Amino acid sequence: MIIARTVLELRASLDSQTGSVGFVPTMGALHIGHRTLIEKARSENDRVVVSIFVNPTQFLAGEDLSKYPRREEADFKICELSGVDILFYPDVSTMYGKDEVSIKGPDVRGYILEGASRPGHFDGVLTVVMKLLNLVRATRAYFGKKDAQQLSLITQMAQNFFMSVEIIAVDTVREKDGLALSSRNVYLSEIDRTDALKLSASLKQATHLVMQGVRETNEIQRVMLSILQPLNVEYVAIVNRRFEAISEVVIGDTIVLVAARVGTTRLIDNVWM
Ligand code: PAJ
Repeated sequence: MIIARTVLELRASLDSQTGSVGFVPTMGALHIGHRTLIEKARSENDRVVVSIFVNPTQFLAGEDLSKYPRREEADFKICELSGVDILFYPDVSTMYGKDEVSIKGPDVRGYILEGASRPGHFDGVLTVVMKLLNLVRATRAYFGKKDAQQLSLITQMAQNFFMSVEIIAVDTVREKDGLALSSRNVYLSEIDRTDALKLSASLKQATHLVMQGVRETNEIQRVMLSILQPLNVEYVAIVNRRFEAISEVVIGDTIVLVAARVGTTRLIDNVWM
């Protein structure tokens, strides 16, 4: 595995190899969710590039940028063992200069749900993903459904800017008990860990209701909120794939999302139906 820390090193290593490129952008603290993305990229491309970059522009003032988990050595090992060809590991000054041009998310979809709780977050995500996609020039780039709104906005950006990369959505990887894997799970105490299961439990119940024929989103949201008690719920939302609010579930075009604080940790989860 080649570790490229600068743009020059990345370009040189990309130029030294041929074939299709699968790209998995991450912020490190890699877990099985990330590994699943890497394995999918591995199975569908000649070469795999992973980036690890804790992107400062997607963290708002007061968010956990400085305490975001960093595990360089373990991450390098995981990449190596997963068959990654090139690991791009830039520092902030490689990725950003002063007074730069940046990408702004769509006025509505970029500023609802996650974007309402974290205004400007998606501008930072889209900007860094644009930079990374331009650097890596991947054939396919892999993103998790776990971050559904991020995935939807990146897919839209690729369309709106006529980018040639194919954006691939990967199913959420969960612990046996249902908890969606997340780098932030390390912040959960033992009690938090039990409370955190309410998120996936509420989504499971939403799926169950839909399977029983319930379609009214108000009813599903009401049941979910009762399961989520007494957590500090930020939102329970039911939207279509374009992230527009809907009053009735349409199978094949619906995402049910939840965001809640468990202790001091903010968790998100969703189910696609
Ligand atoms: P990060 O949180 O490290 O996630 C990297 C990728 O892994 C994202 O596409 C995310 O959706 C996916 N992922 C995380 N947990 C997952 C799980 N349990 N199952 C499946 N996929 C999962 O998301 C980011 O980094 C950043 O915003 C980034 C896109 C790298 C831009 O900085």
